[in-house]
Amino acid sequence: MNFPATRLRRLRSTAAMRSLVRETHLQPSAFIYPLFICEGEGVRREISSMPGVFNLSIDEAVKEAEACAALGIGGLLFFGIPDEKDEQGSGAYATDGITQRAIRAIKSSAATSSLVTIADVCLCEYTSHGHCGIVVRNPTNRDGESFEVDNDSSIKLIAKTAASLAEAGADIVAPSDMMDGRIGAIREALDDAGKHNTPIMSYASKFASAFYGPFREAADSAPQFGDRRTYQMDGANLREAMREIEQDIAEGCDMLLMKPAMPYLDVIREARNRFDLPMGAYQVSGEYSMLHAAFQRGWLEPERAMLESLLSIRRAGADFIVTYFAKDAAKTL
Ligand code: PBG
Repeated sequence: MNFPATRLRRLRSTAAMRSLVRETHLQPSAFIYPLFICEGEGVRREISSMPGVFNLSIDEAVKEAEACAALGIGGLLFFGIPDEKDEQGSGAYATDGITQRAIRAIKSSAATSSLVTIADVCLCEYTSHGHCGIVVRNPTNRDGESFEVDNDSSIKLIAKTAASLAEAGADIVAPSDMMDGRIGAIREALDDAGKHNTPIMSYASKFASAFYGPFREAADSAPQFGDRRTYQMDGANLREAMREIEQDIAEGCDMLLMKPAMPYLDVIREARNRFDLPMGAYQVSGEYSMLHAAFQRGWLEPERAMLESLLSIRRAGADFIVTYFAKDAAKTL
């Protein structure tokens, strides 16, 4: 049937009609809010490139978590910013590490029980060199770099970090390092620690992206030399992303987290078509910052642009979204 028998505008005629036929929905319970936890007390330090996002000491983070729960947000993703860093990132797997203490504190507040607590698992915030694994110096490879990030020694420490965070009370562990074989190593370490019921949410296809820039200010995790291109994926590769996901599923991951989101919506869609695991997407720091920069200049309508960006990610196939807009969007909905 063609025009004039078919008129697609009929179903757009009123707000009620549009609502009835809407295919994709946003709800606060499908948002996850990242928290950056630092040492100290009463600290609430705004990140200059991320308006409305703060480095929070543990006491302030508990208040923030309670506010998120009151808004109906689904969960929190924890990043720790330790005062001291070393070559081995030992703060990542210390029993009294900053993230471990933050998770325990938030779990002990009854007002946060509706939140799923997710611990990002990576070494980059804890290593003095800012890389996501163990750095071995001087192999002088062909890129002219004088270092390498060693895979197999890194995954031992990453697995240890995951077990330590699960023991501190994380409901889910989310490795973001992109080493090979880490999901299998983490599963084994969790099971050895008696945490066979803790799910792994794998940042299975994480691209080496310029859009992580503001995060590295927030988490003080910029590499001190080199970049992450030997472990994070090349932004040109969709088929390779599918292979990464297949590997992680084979190693036992329970959920997927796609990252970044908006510049990689095609990758999200392809993953949704191929795999049946629950899948989230991370609207990363740069996606948030560029929208805010436009809001500040009055170039975009904040509420509409925010919701449209989130809707695009859901429509591409993500079940849930890690987003710095979680609180603002929950308030708007
Ligand atoms: C840690 C990690 C990063 C992000 C999440 N986990 C930074 C990176 O890989 O450099 C980025 C999140 C964001 O930009 O909001 N490896």
